[in-house]
Amino acid sequence: MSRTFFARQTALVTGASSGIGAALAVELARCGARVAVLARRLDRLESVCATIRAEGGEAIPLACDVRDRAALDAAVKETVAQFGHLDIAIANAGFGVAGPVDELSTGDFRRQFETNFFGAVDTFYAVWPQLKESHGRFAAVASVSGRMGSPATSAYSASKFALVGFAESAYYDCLAHGVSVTCINPGFTESEIRSVNNAGDYVGTPDPVPGFLVMSAEKAARQSVRALYRRRPEIVLSQHGKWLVRLARHTPRLLRAVLSLGVRRG
Ligand SMILES: NC(=O)c1ccc[n+]([C@@H]2O[C@H](COP(=O)([O-])OP(=O)(O)OC[C@H]3O[C@@H](n4cnc5c(N)ncnc54)[C@H](OP(=O)(O)O)[C@@H]3O)[C@@H](O)[C@H]2O)c1
Repeated sequence: MSRTFFARQTALVTGASSGIGAALAVELARCGARVAVLARRLDRLESVCATIRAEGGEAIPLACDVRDRAALDAAVKETVAQFGHLDIAIANAGFGVAGPVDELSTGDFRRQFETNFFGAVDTFYAVWPQLKESHGRFAAVASVSGRMGSPATSAYSASKFALVGFAESAYYDCLAHGVSVTCINPGFTESEIRSVNNAGDYVGTPDPVPGFLVMSAEKAARQSVRALYRRRPEIVLSQHGKWLVRLARHTPRLLRAVLSLGVRRG
């Protein structure tokens, strides 16, 4: 995308210390935006900012846990103090609680929702006054798992279904204020998500998903930023992701049969 698309605009990205969020921050900066990058690991944020500055962009690292509303408010305040206004916000922070439903507990679901759903909703409320003023753009990074259930993903999928519902409904409510809401639904994408445990901590386990199914984070970011620029309500990323969403929508029985067969074969 052109370097001028987001010139003089300011963006804030949560979960920007790795994977899709880091790539989104770099891509927004390439399109001319000044970027506030948020996550818990400050050292990782510093290196994302260094990448952006090396390309001539502007970025600030802000340590912030999205489960802490006061920390989100402080990050927004600091962003506006440094850059003057806020035009774009992406609620991207998330992780995956994995495992068959009979091996999980209500606590696992609550922990999953605290980050993936309430963290995104709190991000929305923290940035809303600024976006309303700038007639800006908000995006939530949900998932193909927010469009279909699959084995061993009940907690993750439930949190993403909730987020899709939030984004789709907020889209209408924000229209009147000139603010767009884009729901980004990635399929398998290159990141650290499958190296993070059920508590949300990075443990470095290798990605079990075959490489040919995994989209690069840069490509996912380019397509997401284009959708954001066009104020599209929704985007599904990756070919396999698009196919799965189509199957879930139009031939749910076929998809269920295929996934059930996979489960029976172990
Ligand atoms: N990669 C995929 O295949 C895929 C597919 C569909 C959807 N997604 C979604 O894409 C989003 C980004 O994930 P990713 O794949 O890029 O994984 P990732 O590389 O593990 O990145 C997750 C990011 O979220 C941050 N984060 C986690 N918990 C946080 C918290 N409580 N407060 C603030 N930041 C937090 C992490 O940073 P810190 O640890 O430094 O806080 C990290 O920057 C997630 O919402 C995920 O569900 C990913």
